[in-house]
Amino acid sequence: MASTFKALRVHQADKATSARLERIALEDLSAGEVVIRVAYSSLNYKDALAITGKGRIIRKFPCVAGIDLSGVVEESRAAAFQAGDRVLVTGCNIGEALDGGLAEYARLPADAVVPLPPGLSLWEAMALGTAGFTAALALRRMLENHQTPELGPIAVTGPTGGVGSVAINLFSQLGFTVAALSGKKGTEADDYLRALGAAEVLDRASLGAPGSKPLESARWGGAVDNLGGDTLAWLTRTVRPWGNIACIGLAQSAELHTTVMPFILRGVSLLGIHSVECPRPWRLALWEKLAGAWKPSRLARLAPRTLALEDVPRLCEEIIAGKLIGRTVVRIGSDA
Ligand SMILES: NC(=O)c1ccc[n+]([C@@H]2O[C@H](COP(=O)([O-])OP(=O)(O)OC[C@H]3O[C@@H](n4cnc5c(N)ncnc54)[C@H](OP(=O)(O)O)[C@@H]3O)[C@@H](O)[C@H]2O)c1
Repeated sequence: MASTFKALRVHQADKATSARLERIALEDLSAGEVVIRVAYSSLNYKDALAITGKGRIIRKFPCVAGIDLSGVVEESRAAAFQAGDRVLVTGCNIGEALDGGLAEYARLPADAVVPLPPGLSLWEAMALGTAGFTAALALRRMLENHQTPELGPIAVTGPTGGVGSVAINLFSQLGFTVAALSGKKGTEADDYLRALGAAEVLDRASLGAPGSKPLESARWGGAVDNLGGDTLAWLTRTVRPWGNIACIGLAQSAELHTTVMPFILRGVSLLGIHSVECPRPWRLALWEKLAGAWKPSRLARLAPRTLALEDVPRLCEEIIAGKLIGRTVVRIGSDA
């Protein structure tokens, strides 16, 4: 291992943040028992907020950005891992309070590290990444709360994004009818969303309007929401009795203005999804699922870009503007 290596680090000075590619040493990284030679990371909405400084994501400065990674263990002081093991990490505060995945090496607590399950390559692990794990967590919570295809179609918002793309593929291959509610209807996104398994693509602008009625015509069996705000409020008013809404993101707004009526008159459930500090047994079980029975059939399609570390800052602006379609994998080192 070279004495220094490449990292995308976020600095803060006078309350302003700036990200730059630089060379750092292992001792510069936050503490942990496992040193990983990073093969891939990925770009998520949260990474874009952290790297551009548009969201207060990072809680220690300087910080290597990147909320997920896959790679090979270089050295380990934890009995559970040995040099040469192939591993992945999502959440667990990496890229926020611990140095993250957008560097050639990461040093992390063993608790955060997941053995790469058989059935997934290092690239596939980051084609899924935090977004895929989060979509799987939403699916698990909805199934546990009795979501069935018979309840009706699943509405997915922010569907061309990472979480939305994986959710469409996951739910459709388990027999759910999926409707994609996109801001990009009428573009190349339509073909993309249908290829992932969406039965219909609807224009988000024609739906989800602020409404005065506490309940509207019930049309969705359930929903996976990445937007929050008026869209989530509208979903609460339009989900059928006993349906579930997985509340994941805030790409539109962190606000939620609704009434209790959907919950007490239709038995609708709003399920919180928190992928960062998800209990470790769930984390391990969900990655096994994603590598096996739930492995998305259209992984290559839903992750159309594999870019270099140098491309990351440019891509972040496009992510914040909601322009990209599908996931972005970042190649950092070799797969070997
Ligand atoms: N709770 C958790 O544990 C967890 C985990 C991962 C992500 N998240 C959150 O979930 C959300 C999605 O994450 P992601 O990584 O999938 O993001 P992403 O890849 O950037 O996708 C977000 C999608 O939302 C839509 N969108 C973007 N900006 C918007 C705006 N201003 N108004 C309305 N729609 C907009 C776009 O889809 P269309 O153009 O197709 O509508 C975009 O592709 C983010 O808020 C993220 O922070 C939460």
